[in-house]
Amino acid sequence: MAGKQSLPSDSPVRKLHPGASMLDEEEVQEVLAVIKSRSLSRDYGPDRLDMVSRFEQEFANKVGSNYALAVTSGTAALKVALVAAGVGPGDEVIVPPVTFIATPGSVVILGAVPIFCEVDESMTMDPEDIESKITPRTRAIFPVHLWGTPCRMDRIMEVAKKHNLKVIEDCAQSTGATFKGRPIGTWGDLGAFSMQFGKIITSGEGGVLVSEDAELYERAVRYHDQGSFREKTRFPGFTPTLDPFVGENFRVGELTGAVALTQLRKIDQIVNGLRERFNRFKEGIEDIPGVRIRPTNDDDGHLGVHWDLIFDDAETCARFSDAMRAHGHSTALGYGASPVYMRPQILNQKTASPQANPWQSPAYDGDAKYGKGLCPRTEDLLRRVLLITSVNPWYPEGKVDELIDAVRNAASDVF
Ligand SMILES: Cc1ncc(COP(=O)(O)O)c(C=O)c1O
Repeated sequence: MAGKQSLPSDSPVRKLHPGASMLDEEEVQEVLAVIKSRSLSRDYGPDRLDMVSRFEQEFANKVGSNYALAVTSGTAALKVALVAAGVGPGDEVIVPPVTFIATPGSVVILGAVPIFCEVDESMTMDPEDIESKITPRTRAIFPVHLWGTPCRMDRIMEVAKKHNLKVIEDCAQSTGATFKGRPIGTWGDLGAFSMQFGKIITSGEGGVLVSEDAELYERAVRYHDQGSFREKTRFPGFTPTLDPFVGENFRVGELTGAVALTQLRKIDQIVNGLRERFNRFKEGIEDIPGVRIRPTNDDDGHLGVHWDLIFDDAETCARFSDAMRAHGHSTALGYGASPVYMRPQILNQKTASPQANPWQSPAYDGDAKYGKGLCPRTEDLLRRVLLITSVNPWYPEGKVDELIDAVRNAASDVF
């Protein structure tokens, strides 16, 4: 197996998320170099090392996109991408209900309204359910590449093109995944990634967005930097064409850039390590009756970071979970089996101030309501997809084999 095998079995590194588990002397040296340069801003300083700019260029090359822009978080990347795509008050954005709160939250913050569509057995957006949610107010589709699994982007793009909708991909949990050989984030108009501490690569906090389109990129740059475009320190050779508009500050500093750049250079090792372990698990449980792995949409493109089994009904899933516990392994239901529209801030349509409330805005003439039963297929799936474990590139072969045995024993108890 790829990855480093020399860690002691009780090392806390074994429990860290993928990117965090790979932090070592390389990141330390790059961060020290930035401090010694006394140039902590990407835009000025006596001896800039251009960590953030180099990260952006290498990230764009890695995913095969024209442009990449580093920002301060995955949430910032979502927000800047939505702004660049023109999402604002009065708009509806179609979102899957199995995701982190940041996905619908970023829509709401911009004054737009999230509309939820079903997921399929992969737990990603079901492209066949999108059309039934489209209204004259729909501006964009917001697929989420969940738990390392790519969405079926070919079908999603067909629906988007037919209805002339923008597509913003939430890639926060799946940096490095591909669908049909093409990196996620490059199928839609914009792709947004996270480098928060729990992610595939990490700089503690951080995000990056990609686009093929020069105008979307320029809008994103301007929004993330108070409306300005600093030609000297942004993409080489890019000539801005838009007028300035009011923006925010989501700029990334050089210390974060140094860590992000170093982590990016480890991504193949991370992804290979995850996939090798997942494939060993998959092969090990293939012949066990009653046991099925959550579909991945693309067996070559998913990351294999989040190992789930899918059962025919919630009751069997619960019995399997009990049996796993009896064999020494605790399991979990994703997001506590609760769709994101049941989170109180979405369910009760609460924003920080009434003026910022998109559901009550005079610009909005729809009537979005959330509650139990909104996406019944998704609610059912959330109770019959069982997380066995999530892994990092250090996960030992021996533990994979132990898990295979536990699944086999649990299956023989249940079926
Ligand atoms: C699906 C999804 N979208 C967006 C985010 C937000 O990323 P960040 O925490 O970097 O703001 C996350 C983070 O957990 C996520 O899982």
